[in-house]
Amino acid sequence: MHFTKVFAALSLFGTVALGQTKVKVMPLGDSITEITCWRASLWDNLVNAGLASQVDFVGSMSNNPENCRAATGSFDLNHEGHSGWLAIDIANNYLQGWLASYKPDIVMFMLGTNDVFQGRGTNDIMNAYTKMVQLMRASNPNMKIIVDLVIPATFSNNGLQAINAQIPNWARNLNSTASPIYIADTATGYTTGMLRDGVHPNAQGDALITQRLTPVLLPLIRASLGGGQTPTQPPTTTSPPTQTSQPTQTPTPTAVQPTPGTVAKWGQCGGNGYNGPTGCVSGSTCQKINDWYSQCI
Ligand SMILES: *[C@@H]1O[C@H](CO)[C@@H](O)[C@H](O)[C@H]1NC(C)=O
Repeated sequence: MHFTKVFAALSLFGTVALGQTKVKVMPLGDSITEITCWRASLWDNLVNAGLASQVDFVGSMSNNPENCRAATGSFDLNHEGHSGWLAIDIANNYLQGWLASYKPDIVMFMLGTNDVFQGRGTNDIMNAYTKMVQLMRASNPNMKIIVDLVIPATFSNNGLQAINAQIPNWARNLNSTASPIYIADTATGYTTGMLRDGVHPNAQGDALITQRLTPVLLPLIRASLGGGQTPTQPPTTTSPPTQTSQPTQTPTPTAVQPTPGTVAKWGQCGGNGYNGPTGCVSGSTCQKINDWYSQCI
């Protein structure tokens, strides 16, 4: 990295430490992070955006129980998804150590589902979220935080919806310029038909999670690399892509292999700072989602 680039990164955003060339992203969660394939398809989107070589997924786990395959080849297996674990326990007993070991620049998390299954109250869960944010900021005052809305389950859905109802105000109240919190709306439009077993995403669910995380994560990575100012929240919460354009359409995993220079369906095809291909495979067109992200839909 050139000195000027380092200087720009420090002065504009202050995230990536001097000498560090990759942005460290920690996927944090439970089985919905561990035994699913959205991490692979999210990595595909980093590859297609030309960012994968500058990103390091971090965490103590590196398993691939579902044998997920990235369409672009292999993906960075590291993560901090722990099947069956509660947000409350992770906040109280584990997160501090993981942060100390892996020093992420960005943490993206989906947690609370197991807490709900085990009868924990919404307030206790939100207090655990708050404690996690405090630990993240103690570890890195410039931590960028992405909180996913929890996906539905066929059981205990009221408790899950209660978490999602709290998240917007919770995030606004804890937000800060140095350590912004972004919401990835991984819940709107998520139907129980996107669950393989009542709890975990099937391929459609993985695709929806990937689709909603991508426009939140990619601008944060670019900004961390010094490519821009702190992004504003993409409008995923108020106007999810699948609902604004084609209400009846559900996301499908990337099935069509892109030819060089063309972008697969649901892939990125434009946006500020994006340098990749802009042509979409036939059957889809490039639509602007926000200033930072256009997608083949
Ligand atoms: C947090 O602040 C950033 C700007 O620093 C903003 O883009 C984002 O939308 C805010 N998050 C929430 C949940 O309001």
